[in-house]
Amino acid sequence: MLMQTDPRPADPKSADPVARRRTFAIISHPDAGKTTLTEKLLLFGGAIQLAGEVKAKRNRVSTRSDWMGIEKERGISVVTSVMTFEYGDCVFNLLDTPGHEDFSEDTYRTLTAVDSAVMVIDAAKGIEARTRKLFEVCRLRDIPIVTFVNKLDREARDPFETLDEIEKTLALDVAPITWPIGLGRNFAGTYELGGNRVRRLDAADDAGTIPVSGFADPLFDELLTENGAADAWREEVELAEGGLKSFDLAAFREGHLTPVFFGSALRNFGVRDLIDGLARFAPPPRGQEADKRAVQPSEPKMTGFVFKIQANMDPNHRDRIAFMRVCSGMLRRGMKAKLVRTGKPMSLSAPQFFFAQDRAIADEAYAGDVVGIPNHGTLRIGDTLTEGEEIVFRGVPSFAPEIMRRIKLTDAMKAKKLKEALQQMGEEGVVQVFIPQDGSPAIVGVVGALQLDVLKERLQAEYGLPIDYETTRFSVCRWIEAESEAEIDKFVNAHGSAMASDLDGAPVFMATTAFSLRYEEERWEKIRFTDVKDYQ
Ligand code: G4P
Repeated sequence: MLMQTDPRPADPKSADPVARRRTFAIISHPDAGKTTLTEKLLLFGGAIQLAGEVKAKRNRVSTRSDWMGIEKERGISVVTSVMTFEYGDCVFNLLDTPGHEDFSEDTYRTLTAVDSAVMVIDAAKGIEARTRKLFEVCRLRDIPIVTFVNKLDREARDPFETLDEIEKTLALDVAPITWPIGLGRNFAGTYELGGNRVRRLDAADDAGTIPVSGFADPLFDELLTENGAADAWREEVELAEGGLKSFDLAAFREGHLTPVFFGSALRNFGVRDLIDGLARFAPPPRGQEADKRAVQPSEPKMTGFVFKIQANMDPNHRDRIAFMRVCSGMLRRGMKAKLVRTGKPMSLSAPQFFFAQDRAIADEAYAGDVVGIPNHGTLRIGDTLTEGEEIVFRGVPSFAPEIMRRIKLTDAMKAKKLKEALQQMGEEGVVQVFIPQDGSPAIVGVVGALQLDVLKERLQAEYGLPIDYETTRFSVCRWIEAESEAEIDKFVNAHGSAMASDLDGAPVFMATTAFSLRYEEERWEKIRFTDVKDYQ
């Protein structure tokens, strides 16, 4: 018999502001319902008044900025942002991950800043490619996953089939917290497994759950009217309660088990159970690895790292916002922080919180919070801010590009401006910029082709720079490292025109084919060729 264990609460009621924080992202395949669910979560948090605001806002923004037109045209979400809302005793920071796989780099970086993730699955489609890929990133980082099986109000697979698929394809134990009562047009609500409570679809989510005497309760005959449906459902639930794992907080926190909720984001059904689940189960901010030590969220001194830069969010202000996750201590408005990369002090005079439609000055922020720091190019992706300590947070990755192009400038007089613009786009993480050693024009590298379109549109819209792309003879590149500088020099000298530096000055080897890369890797045993680089 499955009984829901009484999980140790993640202490949302604690006076400790860190214990109340839940910083999470939603991972899903496009169309599974991420935007709809986001809207509904924000509604619960009172962050927006009307459902539909998230999309409405996006459309409004995209009319103001040309490059965002791409998002509108292709119906995908290009912009990563953060939304903060309070619900119950918790402060939630929801980090939006771009939906399109072309933007995987941004997505990966966003996932470095969360403590848990909600995996949204379309009940008819199950685990899709993109969900799986994002799940793998979460697994690498041991990020606990809460699952929301969405669109129960439409034609859906049998819940056992969905759960079985999660277990088999993701090698993740499943512990359903609720169980659907009917599917598709017969969907009537959910039953809390082991909890003897029912949430009815025909009652408002706010109305709460109603008690039942168990799955034998006559209410189920009322809800499932088709001939024999109620009895078939009872058998199913008995099987679920007897045969499936019960929720185990430790296994969830370690990333081995996912609690599963069933619902319909569109009907705003099951969303309250999900958000309550996040408050109860999802971990508060975790410690973060830095180069010299691990930093605990409870430490008194403020530390944080930048995982995302977004420029020109509002072209009227030509602003540039660095999104920083606070890792420890308290960030106070007006405080002086040290930017470890340069060793220079930086005044945090106007840190911002983001809500669904507004930003507000953050007077104070705690570990787990994500604040936007307006700046004019001082901050880069991967930067660490501290109150003086010389540490650098690890793990904000940059991936070796899969597509490389040389930039052809139509107006040669604007070379200097292009250099500046590329520097900025590189620092923002829109593209990677490689400066060839032989003095030839810059090469840009991207993981997905759509990034090239974004770069082109932004150079035109924001800098008045019309450009084209030319293919290069290079198709892959790797950062190179070795025990000694001498080894690097030897390699660099032997590969003159195939060498470039990235924006940090790190040496990059560019190869014409994967075959020639492998050849060099075998020949140069003392050189390490890496396809992921930590920003620093
Ligand atoms: P995404 O961000 O994951 O890409 O998905 P999004 O929320 O935009 O949802 C994709 C489509 O699925 C939308 O329909 C949305 O209304 C629908 N949808 C989301 N959740 C549910 C649900 O629980 N039940 C049902 N039946 N549909 C759901 P669309 O027609 O493509 O977009 P729209 O014109 O309604 O905005």
